[in-house]
Amino acid sequence: MQKKSTLLPYHTSVKVWLLLIAILPTLFSGCGKTTRTPEASQQGYTSDKAMVVSAHPDASRIGLEILRKGGNAFDAAIATQFALAVAHPAAGNLGGGGFLVYRQSDGSVGSLDYREKAPGAATETMYQDAQGEVISELSLSGHLAAGVPGSVAGMYETHQKFGSLPWEELVQPSVDLARNGVVLTEKEANGLNSTRDRFIKHNKHLPYLAVKVWNPGDTLKHPDLARTLEHIRDKGRDGFYKGETADHIVKEMQRSNGIITHQDLEKYTAEWRQPITGKYKDYKVISMGPPSSGGVALMQLLTMIEPYNISKYGWQSPETIHLMAEAERRVYADRAAYLGDPDFVKVPVEQLLDQEYLKDRMKSVSLEKATASAEIKEGVLPVYESEQTTHLSIVDAAGNAVSVTTTLNGSYGSKVIVEGAGFLLNNEMDDFSAKPGVPNMYGLVGGKANAIAPGKRMLSAMTPTILEKDGKLFMVVGTPGGSTIITSVYQTILNVIEHNMTMQQAVAAPRFHHQWLPDAIQHEPKAINPEVRTQLQNKGHKLMERSTYGRVDVILVLPNGKLEGGADPRGDDTAMGY
Ligand code: GLY
Repeated sequence: MQKKSTLLPYHTSVKVWLLLIAILPTLFSGCGKTTRTPEASQQGYTSDKAMVVSAHPDASRIGLEILRKGGNAFDAAIATQFALAVAHPAAGNLGGGGFLVYRQSDGSVGSLDYREKAPGAATETMYQDAQGEVISELSLSGHLAAGVPGSVAGMYETHQKFGSLPWEELVQPSVDLARNGVVLTEKEANGLNSTRDRFIKHNKHLPYLAVKVWNPGDTLKHPDLARTLEHIRDKGRDGFYKGETADHIVKEMQRSNGIITHQDLEKYTAEWRQPITGKYKDYKVISMGPPSSGGVALMQLLTMIEPYNISKYGWQSPETIHLMAEAERRVYADRAAYLGDPDFVKVPVEQLLDQEYLKDRMKSVSLEKATASAEIKEGVLPVYESEQTTHLSIVDAAGNAVSVTTTLNGSYGSKVIVEGAGFLLNNEMDDFSAKPGVPNMYGLVGGKANAIAPGKRMLSAMTPTILEKDGKLFMVVGTPGGSTIITSVYQTILNVIEHNMTMQQAVAAPRFHHQWLPDAIQHEPKAINPEVRTQLQNKGHKLMERSTYGRVDVILVLPNGKLEGGADPRGDDTAMGY
């Protein structure tokens, strides 16, 4: 087992970034070289055959126990997700949604969309006041911020298609965990304490997560959640979308301004979708398609950077950062214009991934000078008809691979805990564009393609991804982190393929991110040393230092067939295997 902890998990807003720029301009010290390698030099935890990497040691342990019992990667993914809903309530969930990408040992691939949906009573302008101004608090916290949850439907659907162990055996470990309690790590205790006031503000009852100030080492029990999990264990998806749990959710909505109804819950379905597939050099990339922007954006980024010799320029060299950031600003401009729920808008995936289009997008990049984001618009696509409109990676002993990213959106989602049912509801409605051009909590802007409509899924950046090399499994990767998910996955892949890092080094390496707007390279404190900073500024880039972000969890297949885990030291993330 490998456990890491040093840096605080990141979750903040654009306003905080601006504050950081003002007060923390030069906090870090660099080594003064243009090209560096990350400080951590060790290989990650390795195992012979099978592995689970997730955001919490209890969740990884429960997933591993399922694998040891003979369960496959899908069984382990289900059990690990339920365990994360108990042990890592900031992001693990029953009240949120997610995406699963798989590659079976025979090479077949697929993906499952269990993203939340807008309730039936949602409207395009529901977060605007009478003057058309966005009231962002409404989509960020409280009952109106919640979309119809998809996680339980997603896990049940996964089991129906691929499960090998009985459903009850996958849920029971989390019933026990919830009833017996979880020993809080320092990060979990800090997370709960720093959210305490908002739990109290957004709940009519005193929520159990806020009954006291928590200390690391305290045992946090979840009796209501244990009962909800028992309903799910005994009745499958109906244990959540119907009966007592559904009644609790609807009653909770009625305590405030929530709009999720029994009908919304009963109607919810998870959907099997074609994954995005493409090539980067000798690697086949398999990732999540719309309603996630992740797979499309990742493939665009990899295709746009492929002609440049970034391994020669070096890791975090000014040339590498400049070129990657230039590609990123163009990709995020496309994202804002074209991406949305494919059940509602025509998403021009083929055109966005067209090689000629992407080559053309990079033609305006100068090696000497940053492009101002104000000069960048979405690209003009080859003709198409517009209708305007906590990660875990698992490999089992047979070689099946599952990559799951699941979310409540913000830390602890809407902060609303369903009374009597013991779980948090998401604030995923903030991932819609509340009004064209108005940024959401991640500073992302969007347009008509991602406008709110009843039953529609909000656009995501989640990027659960699998790579193959020479027809064999190579990497299973993903991360949380809102808008930064795509670029964190992008950098992690390039760190291994282009910069020869071990899996653990690639995950631990400090990161940077450009998302078109705001027009700045955002970066973790040690990502850009002073000399590189000056060179980037001379090219015209603005730099925004921010605290750490993402919790990338990866499994790499080594040349000898063993597995190396990359567990992000920014969280309690843990790799376990056998
Ligand atoms: N809630 C973050 C995302 O789906 O992109």
